[in-house]
Amino acid sequence: MTHTSPYGDPATTTLGTRAGDGPAPRGMDETAVFAPVTAPLLGEAAPARPVPAPAAPAPAPAIPPPARALAELAARDVSAWFGAHQVLDRVSLAMPAGQVTALIGPSGCGKSTFLRILNRMHELVPGAALAGEVLLDGQDVYDPARRVTEARRRIGMVFQKPNPFPAMSIRDNVLAGLRLTGVRLGAAAKDDLVEESLVRAGLWREVQDRLGAPGGGLSGGQQQRLCIARSLAVRPDVLLMDEPCSALDPTSTRVIEETMTDLAREVTIVIVTHNMQQAARVSQQCAFFLAEERRAGVIVEHGPTAAMFGGPRDPRTEAYVTGRFG
Ligand SMILES: Nc1ncnc2c1ncn2[C@@H]1O[C@H](COP(=O)(O)OP(=O)(O)OP(=O)(O)O)[C@@H](O)[C@H]1O
Ligand SMILES: [Mg+2]
Repeated sequence: MTHTSPYGDPATTTLGTRAGDGPAPRGMDETAVFAPVTAPLLGEAAPARPVPAPAAPAPAPAIPPPARALAELAARDVSAWFGAHQVLDRVSLAMPAGQVTALIGPSGCGKSTFLRILNRMHELVPGAALAGEVLLDGQDVYDPARRVTEARRRIGMVFQKPNPFPAMSIRDNVLAGLRLTGVRLGAAAKDDLVEESLVRAGLWREVQDRLGAPGGGLSGGQQQRLCIARSLAVRPDVLLMDEPCSALDPTSTRVIEETMTDLAREVTIVIVTHNMQQAARVSQQCAFFLAEERRAGVIVEHGPTAAMFGGPRDPRTEAYVTGRFG
């Protein structure tokens, strides 16, 4: 089944004014991921498993356990438009569970657009349209019967520029996603969730003594890990990362890369990067996007990262990964 955006069929509908060919859509920020939902998010994240009948009702755990089967994300024939400008043309890609998939390719070929389609943020852009399917564990994230906010919670996003709420405390930054999604937890459960999320993001050791300090007082690399912790606190199945290290120094980049490698055991990761060494270091799968002159972006080649870098099939992939263009 094919879906188009609420803006209608791009081929036939009069589309809104396009925002221009700027590098990033306006009006999109990380808070969009945290649009209000009414469901008990953490409750939904708890895995179903057989429990022996207790003599008396067992007390609920402070935070339901995060353990759950790793989720696979798949895009099928995804096309995208901004107004009449088609920027992606029938892109299909499997992003396997528990692995890091790197999206590489020259500027403007549609990598960020593809990422935003994966968690339904593309449809927030006025005049934007799309076709195709995105499946999370085989379930269509664009199914009209499913809540858009649920898709955005299960598929979290971290942006290029770290964007914590600067005046808000480190602790409250971590909890910000929960606040905006309407989840209510007691103080002890919040403390546990803050610690757990910061540990998973690789930041706990550095900030455990100053959780009340403002998020804006952290270094750039720490702020990015704070944003990762904020994303993790709503227990996503997938983490999308759009050039998460491009504003960071080499040391912070290394720490984030280590964090990514640790996280990939529990969360499926899709990362956009212009850094070929980074793609080679962190990813197991890699997809090379390209938009040739006057054409919409396509995936030229994808597969295991070692093969993409060691012996690409397409000469354009080889030229790109060896730094001869882009
Ligand atoms: N909000 C928007 N309105 C109109 N066109 C847009 C918008 N956002 C992106 N585009 C266009 O869509 C195309 C793909 O942009 P996108 O940002 O997805 O590329 P990218 O591969 O992420 O590039 P970069 O590597 O520079 O981040 C470009 O031609 C861009 O100008
Ligand atoms: Mg981009």
